[in-house]
Amino acid sequence: MSDPLTFERAGDDDRINLAVGQPSIDLIPKEMLQTAAARAFNNASEHAFNYGDPQGELSFRAALALFLQGQGQTNARAESLFLTGGNSQALDFVCERFTQPGDVVLVEDSTYFLALQIFKDRGLKIIGLPCDADGIELPALINAIETHKPRLLYTIASFANPTGLCLAEARRAEIARLSRQHDFIVAADEAYQLLHFEKPAPKSFSHFLNDGNLLCLGTFSKILAPGLRVGWLEVSEPLMPRLLASGWVNSGGAINQMASFIVTDCLHHDAQAMHLSTLRHTLAARAAVMQSALKANLSELATWTAPKGGYFFWLRLTDSLNTNDLVAPASRAGVGFQPGNFSSANGHHPNYLRLSFAAYGITEIETGIHRLRTVLRQR
Ligand SMILES: Cc1ncc(COP(=O)(O)O)c(C=O)c1O
Repeated sequence: MSDPLTFERAGDDDRINLAVGQPSIDLIPKEMLQTAAARAFNNASEHAFNYGDPQGELSFRAALALFLQGQGQTNARAESLFLTGGNSQALDFVCERFTQPGDVVLVEDSTYFLALQIFKDRGLKIIGLPCDADGIELPALINAIETHKPRLLYTIASFANPTGLCLAEARRAEIARLSRQHDFIVAADEAYQLLHFEKPAPKSFSHFLNDGNLLCLGTFSKILAPGLRVGWLEVSEPLMPRLLASGWVNSGGAINQMASFIVTDCLHHDAQAMHLSTLRHTLAARAAVMQSALKANLSELATWTAPKGGYFFWLRLTDSLNTNDLVAPASRAGVGFQPGNFSSANGHHPNYLRLSFAAYGITEIETGIHRLRTVLRQR
């Protein structure tokens, strides 16, 4: 069985590694970032290199609020935003601030495999919730709330990792309401919220900030550059003081302040908005190529729903194979994928696999799927 914790990066070996959920190098606008960095550092105020506002500098939060408003998150306000080092750091921070070891966290079954690791690191008990095509099934959620008295619910509501599906808007509203009624916190990981191909995702959880105990996690990793380590939390008002009362935040000031200035420059010059629009087109084109390649090569071997945004296809093999057993042969054939049970708190979905179309161009995607067919045909 392969290990979910081995760090993998596209291009580190000869495989076409469709397991990795990272942007390909050509999707990271290096020159744009170099220009923004030069401008941000040259124009920096005398305070810029000192300790920063623990919540993130107002210039960053105000520019981010405007950007989010422009993207349809009309309620975004600088006061509700908190600078983070990306969604991984934010998620760990949320656990540290709002949970105790032994508390229950509810997650979608399936979910982001490394979020599971963060919850384990924090000693949380993870309970997977069943999902249908519209996301978390509400009767099962209500049952889990009554049975487990969760402290946290973690959801990847839009173009989810790994399923590519979206949680229906009415369910988002109801989950927000339930969090208030039953006193738990919703951590909505919105890493892919802005990455639609045609129709925008259902409303961000940020629209329901006043109705529940909500923390929306946004990141520039998937829409700009993972190496910046810049993201944000948008939070229900009563939760902000707890974030600001953190010892390391008070001691060190804002996390990753200088990188936030680079992002601020990209936001001011509309460079982020323009890049996002290019990115959506490129990802949509790659998803379409993967869809055609899958249809041509795997239609008798697997079923799937074509994603309408995000980074991933989620395939169910028609034979009851354990996809963990296929990792090594696939690797020998020069292709990588992520086995289904990595994404389950309970080891479910052994006959599923996750494929990313973000890390490679169209020729490699086609070749990769062809190689996958050879591997599956030999089983
Ligand atoms: C759902 C989800 N959350 C968080 C992350 C990591 O985000 P960041 O780079 O902002 O830490 C990923 C990356 O794959 C992801 O898919």
